[in-house]
Amino acid sequence: MREKLELLERLRRQSEQGGGPERIKAQHEKGKLTARERLELLLDPGSFVEQDRFVTHRSTDFGLEDQKILGDGVVTGYGTIDGRLVYVFAQDFTVFGGSLAEAHAKKICKIMDTAMRVGAPIIGLNDSGGARIQEGVLSLGGYADIFLRNTLASGVVPQISAILGPCAGGAVYSPAITDFVFMVRGISYMFVTGPNVVKTVTHEEVTNEELGGADVHGSVSGVAHFVYDTEAECLASIRKLLSFLPSNNLDSPPVKECTDPVDRREEDLLDLVPDNPNKPYDMHEVIRRVVDDGELFEVHRDYAANLIVGFARLGGHPVGVIANQPAVLAGVLDINASIKGARFIRFCDAFNIPLVTFEDVPGFLPGTDQEHGGIIKHGAKLLFAYAEATVPKLTVVTRKAYGGAYDVMSSKHVRGDYNVAWPTAEIAVMGPQGAAEILFRREIAQAPDPQAKLEQLVAEYREKFAHPYHAAALGFLDDVIDPRDTRPRLISALRTLLTKRDRNPPKKHDNIPL
Ligand code: HXC
Repeated sequence: MREKLELLERLRRQSEQGGGPERIKAQHEKGKLTARERLELLLDPGSFVEQDRFVTHRSTDFGLEDQKILGDGVVTGYGTIDGRLVYVFAQDFTVFGGSLAEAHAKKICKIMDTAMRVGAPIIGLNDSGGARIQEGVLSLGGYADIFLRNTLASGVVPQISAILGPCAGGAVYSPAITDFVFMVRGISYMFVTGPNVVKTVTHEEVTNEELGGADVHGSVSGVAHFVYDTEAECLASIRKLLSFLPSNNLDSPPVKECTDPVDRREEDLLDLVPDNPNKPYDMHEVIRRVVDDGELFEVHRDYAANLIVGFARLGGHPVGVIANQPAVLAGVLDINASIKGARFIRFCDAFNIPLVTFEDVPGFLPGTDQEHGGIIKHGAKLLFAYAEATVPKLTVVTRKAYGGAYDVMSSKHVRGDYNVAWPTAEIAVMGPQGAAEILFRREIAQAPDPQAKLEQLVAEYREKFAHPYHAAALGFLDDVIDPRDTRPRLISALRTLLTKRDRNPPKKHDNIPL
């Protein structure tokens, strides 16, 4: 027995060496951690249990039969984060450049299948040269097997991807299907075709970082939801994200003990909205004063900043916050903001996370860019996402709720459960200026002083329509509240809604305008 145990120990140690000390050194010299170092940072200390460490490939082409490396370039298994079960895979760039082939893919599929059966999140740490060239179509098949599982797991268990090295070609589509993509500046890049192909086809000269680096995907394409300077920050942030999420779609999100008083009134909220309705203010300041401990875990922070989305807690219960941001583009809804909001709302709805909307929106962004880019279908995504969501939906109108954007942003008409406004709210078909210009065009043109006439008519319109009481009279608002009471009122309403049951009609699936 002892000899057999020695062999076992030797093989275990061998499996932990990956591609060997030279390649581990090279990995460190690139400023990157190894797969196992990453898992240590990600998971609770000592909680990782590895599976399939003895798996090797079965290929005999290109001399591969002499290069069998235990684990085949990916470390898989389970562990815990804050004591809660997660399934993980971490590609090992020191083994065949982390490239994916039959055995490697099978290991990933195995933990995905188990995670689905037991209802636990799946976290993938990607660092790979893509399809293992020597294994040809077996590698492509392996990717497709993973894509299928990503798709079937979508909306069942949370799926999180960290890109911690190259992720190129079709390999990008697994992270793209998952719920959240994390990247790290300087070491991660994602693209369908790399700089060489780009140069051949379009004659553009571009670096990896410029084409598909973390900042590009965090702020331009929106492919990445979170961007960090270091792997340690990135992995800590994945842990944090999970603290807001249930383990699967049948669970409730984890409730945390709340030490921030639930009846806390906030004097500052009286003065945050400027008297001049055209002046911006930072909606973060509103959110911060309302949610537990002022903490908003923002998603897509640098992408479409005219809409803020992120996770927070109210009375200890996780909520998804969606908020127009008057400080960026006056909080207008454009294509990117609509897509960003819709995706976030659908995630929250799939995982039983209530939605809290802070609304100050002048409408959808006008212009040929937006119209030709399809603001109609993209704006419809946001509307669709709000309308189909059956989780508790709470809305606070802080100022403007104009036009179609009023309907879209979690209004009563799309099954908002608790809709309130501050006294500063203006709920109307459009802003006073635009309305007066259309309604009284002739009167203004014929006036001796058209500008003075316009100003008078704008003031009259504002007086008559730019307030919340018409909407409240119709029951489209449940109440008009003192801004200082926003936190206690939201928490009280949320508590009543935690047992909410609502269903959409039975269907195979919906047909959201993609
Ligand atoms: C097999 C690979 C590999 C691959 C890298 N390696 N990529 N082996 N298949 N796809 C190996 C290298 O041979 C090398 O082995 C080791 O990994 C490290 O690679 P280096 O090139 O030394 O590292 P680096 O300089 O950091 O460059 C990393 C890289 C480069 C940019 C990723 O390796 C590269 O361009 N690889 C090919 C990428 C690619 O074209 N993949 C296919 C994409 S198409 P040794 O033994 O020397 O250490 C695709 C389709 C997916 O993925 C479709 C899904 C539907």
